[in-house]
Amino acid sequence: MFKKPPCSVLALSVLAGLAIRPAHADAAKGAQIARQWCANCHVIGGNATGPVPQGPPSFQMVARSGMSADQLRAFLSHPHGAMPNLALTRTEIDDLIGYIDTLR
Ligand code: HEC
Repeated sequence: MFKKPPCSVLALSVLAGLAIRPAHADAAKGAQIARQWCANCHVIGGNATGPVPQGPPSFQMVARSGMSADQLRAFLSHPHGAMPNLALTRTEIDDLIGYIDTLR
């Protein structure tokens, strides 16, 4: 028969969940970072109509490409394309992912 887990187990798993998924991704800040560092190459808004035939994917395409937050995080930990060598902090990466999430 199914037994209710004790409260401490529940609390622990909630804490573990928080540690893995930072709850403070700030999409508004992510949008600001994107405008500042990514818009040179990427179409970042959510209203890009149709695919751009050449060049980097728009952020909406990225959002819909099915990349998970973890894949995005891994990708953004290193420079890509001809990106200037900008070192994004973990917080900035999480904010960017939070922003890209709003375009899904
Ligand atoms: C100098 C141009 C340039 C800048 C600046 C730039 N990118 Fe990119 N980005 C590219 C190019 C080119 C590609 C496609 C080729 C590749 O994946 O390396 C790309 C691809 C991507 C992808 C898709 C990866 C995939 O596999 O689908 C993501 C996500 C991304 N960029 C995020 C960002 C973010 C976030 C920023 C701002 C912090 C940024 N880019 C700034 C040029 C740039």
